[in-house]
Amino acid sequence: MVRVSLAALATAAALPLASAVDISVKATGGNATSPHQYGFLHEDINNSGDGGLYAELIRNRAFQSSNKFNSTLEGWTSVNGAALSLKDLAEPLSKALKTSMHVAAGSSSNGSSGHQVGFSNDGYWGMDVKVQPYAGSFWVKGAYEGSFTASLQSNLTGEVFGSTEIKAKTSPSEWVEHEFKLTPTKNAPNSNNTFSLTFDAAGAKDGSLDFNLISLFPPTYKGRKNGLRIDLAEAIKGFHPTLLRIPGGNMLEGNNRNSWWDWKNTLGPLKDRPGFSGVWNYQQSNGLGLMEYLELAEDMELEIVLGVYNGLSLDGDILSKEELVPFVEDALNQIEFVSGAASTKWGAVRASLGHPAPFKLQYVEVGNEDWLAGKEAGWASFKEYRFPMFLEAINKAHPHITVISSGSVFDGYEIPAPGAGDYHIYGTPDSLVDQFDLFDNVTIPHIIGEAAAVHPNGGKGWDAGLLEYPWWSGTIGEAVSMIGYERNADRIIGAAYAPIIRSLDRWQWSAVMIQFAADPAKTTLSTSWYLWELFAGHLMTHTLPASADFNPLYYVTGKNEEKGSYLFKGAVFNATTDEVPVSVVFEGLKPGTEAELTVLSGPEDPYGFNDPFTGVNVVKTAKTKVVSDTEGKFTFSLPDLSIAVLETKGAKCAKKKREMKMGLRH
Ligand SMILES: *[C@@H]1O[C@H](CO)[C@@H](O)[C@H](O)[C@H]1NC(C)=O
Ligand SMILES: *[C@@H]1O[C@H](CO)[C@@H](O)[C@H](O)[C@H]1NC(C)=O
Ligand SMILES: *[C@@H]1O[C@H](CO)[C@@H](O)[C@H](O)[C@H]1NC(C)=O
Ligand SMILES: *[C@@H]1O[C@H](CO)[C@@H](O)[C@H](O)[C@H]1NC(C)=O
Ligand SMILES: *[C@@H]1O[C@H](CO)[C@@H](O)[C@H](O)[C@H]1NC(C)=O
Ligand SMILES: *[C@@H]1O[C@H](CO)[C@@H](O)[C@H](O)[C@H]1NC(C)=O
Ligand SMILES: *[C@@H]1O[C@H](CO)[C@@H](O)[C@H](O)[C@H]1NC(C)=O
Ligand SMILES: *[C@@H]1O[C@H](CO)[C@@H](O)[C@H](O)[C@H]1NC(C)=O
Repeated sequence: MVRVSLAALATAAALPLASAVDISVKATGGNATSPHQYGFLHEDINNSGDGGLYAELIRNRAFQSSNKFNSTLEGWTSVNGAALSLKDLAEPLSKALKTSMHVAAGSSSNGSSGHQVGFSNDGYWGMDVKVQPYAGSFWVKGAYEGSFTASLQSNLTGEVFGSTEIKAKTSPSEWVEHEFKLTPTKNAPNSNNTFSLTFDAAGAKDGSLDFNLISLFPPTYKGRKNGLRIDLAEAIKGFHPTLLRIPGGNMLEGNNRNSWWDWKNTLGPLKDRPGFSGVWNYQQSNGLGLMEYLELAEDMELEIVLGVYNGLSLDGDILSKEELVPFVEDALNQIEFVSGAASTKWGAVRASLGHPAPFKLQYVEVGNEDWLAGKEAGWASFKEYRFPMFLEAINKAHPHITVISSGSVFDGYEIPAPGAGDYHIYGTPDSLVDQFDLFDNVTIPHIIGEAAAVHPNGGKGWDAGLLEYPWWSGTIGEAVSMIGYERNADRIIGAAYAPIIRSLDRWQWSAVMIQFAADPAKTTLSTSWYLWELFAGHLMTHTLPASADFNPLYYVTGKNEEKGSYLFKGAVFNATTDEVPVSVVFEGLKPGTEAELTVLSGPEDPYGFNDPFTGVNVVKTAKTKVVSDTEGKFTFSLPDLSIAVLETKGAKCAKKKREMKMGLRH
């Protein structure tokens, strides 16, 4: 994920006082644009998956471990003196989940009926408890007559907000799953709550039971089982993304050759998912697996860029040509799992998991940042055999799929046809402005697989001066680069903001689009979210050539043929005047046409940001109606450090609305 712009050129000295920027847009001569210009990358960086977008409330639900992380009892606390310990039983719950939690009534048990013992879990920095149905489940092994009590309570006062009894159906010889619904009768006043599960010590032979895979979900986005947190999914959907790069960047590569993000480990019942030795310093659950990502894409109508593992690990280890052969096969299987008919081997596996219809798959990316982890040798092997092997095999089997190299032409790669490239930029506002024309002369298609403003101007080197939150002038820098990409959207397949969300309780990364904590009231949309919402909410189907120069106003013009509208998107960066007067005329559009102008402006301090702890929103949104004059000109002015979209009232859209209205009258 690490990339610093090489060029941090200051642009030309101040221009002579800006008179009006007069933009004359031609009716023809533009290009059809890729329909998925604005997307995002999600990866489980520091609990943005487990404990974040993935709605599971129980932390460390299955005591998973890997070569890097041992099983622990983290997250778990004893209730009424029960002794909790980890055990690798001779008969584990599953091959994937070997370790379970042994719960013994303990010495403080008085042996009489009604002595409830058990355990509680305090979630990922708390739990949101509301009057809504929670879906829970757990597995038990052991002889027990009686029932279990599941409850949600305050971690501060002990007040119980809801509880339910679950009749035991346990067995001493096998693991039995228990499912339950729990609807609190009261909203908790804060998220400092725990979930607990207890049983009657006297009813348990030996006074002990073994537990595993203890899970609790609040209602999820679109009601999916094992699904996503609603407020976070809605915040993502809210900026109208159209592209999703999965399963992230570094996570795909893994720590070493024995630990990469193996999609096969992420499928099916949770008891069959071993978990993953996360590359962000904690054990991951594999709960948010390939199928969950595909369903997310389906629910949000996103085009997928599917990353396939290509034999480079974060420790720099590289697989040889021979070693790579089975992984090429594995990538073909993965593609078949996603997009093959239900009659194919892997398509049938997908169908067995409840999705017989193939998912649409147009883009496959080979690896992640292959120019980075393996240094020169890694990059050389990528160019020499790793990319070509995948390119050839995927092309042969699926000629309609665009195969994307994990590096770009700017990484010094003459990407072989018919491959595409991936360019990553974590920049300063200045370096992003400098990107404006970067792709003007690049003929090979690219995605911008990761992009964000993260350093203030003057910040140099990855570890220096990362800002904590997206800030206004950084967002303007992003806007200018996005406009540059959209001008070239016949070859830029799409750009992905990265990473997308961050836990306020555990983070290291700087800029992300959305901040969250256990309490949904703390979910904060950054300044960049507002930029993406505006730009992605006004898609073009075609660019149209225009006359005027750029700087300090950067812009793109075009039309949306589906809506029958004409568009201008602009951003003002470092103007020498407070306001830049603008006029836009679209050739062939009759005078007196109506358009909506949306202008986002920011705080006085260009470093102002949306603060999750105060809830302040520094972004000011102004929408106005603008009508073209007798010469067909739309006239308005834009303040320095602002972003704007002008879209004419779509002829087709208006017609559709009229038809709907007429329909209603009948
Ligand atoms: C994991 O457990 C082993 C054996 O008990 C121990 O040697 C090792 O230090 C532990 N590793 C970590 C990361 O705690
Ligand atoms: C045993 O524990 C139960 C539940 O905690 C309690 O109600 C009961 O009074 C206790 N009995 C004795 C003899 O301490
Ligand atoms: C919950 O309250 C405890 C005790 O005041 C405190 O230490 C902890 O930080 C709080 N946790 C959350 C998530 O607010
Ligand atoms: C719950 O309370 C315990 C004891 O005060 C504290 O150690 C723990 O951090 C709290 N949990 C959370 C999530 O705040
Ligand atoms: C924009 O203005 C700031 C403040 O004067 C300056 O630091 C920066 O280099 C300028 N950037 C460009 C691209 O002109
Ligand atoms: C692209 O090519 C044109 C025409 O040769 C040239 O004027 C322009 O400077 C080039 N742009 C970039 C960013 O290289
Ligand atoms: C995760 O966040 C913690 C802060 O809570 C930080 O100390 C740690 O370095 C981060 N780890 C990674 C890999 O980002
Ligand atoms: C259309 O695409 C061609 C080829 O990529 C490019 O040269 C031209 O500048 C583009 N036109 C516009 C209006 O962007």
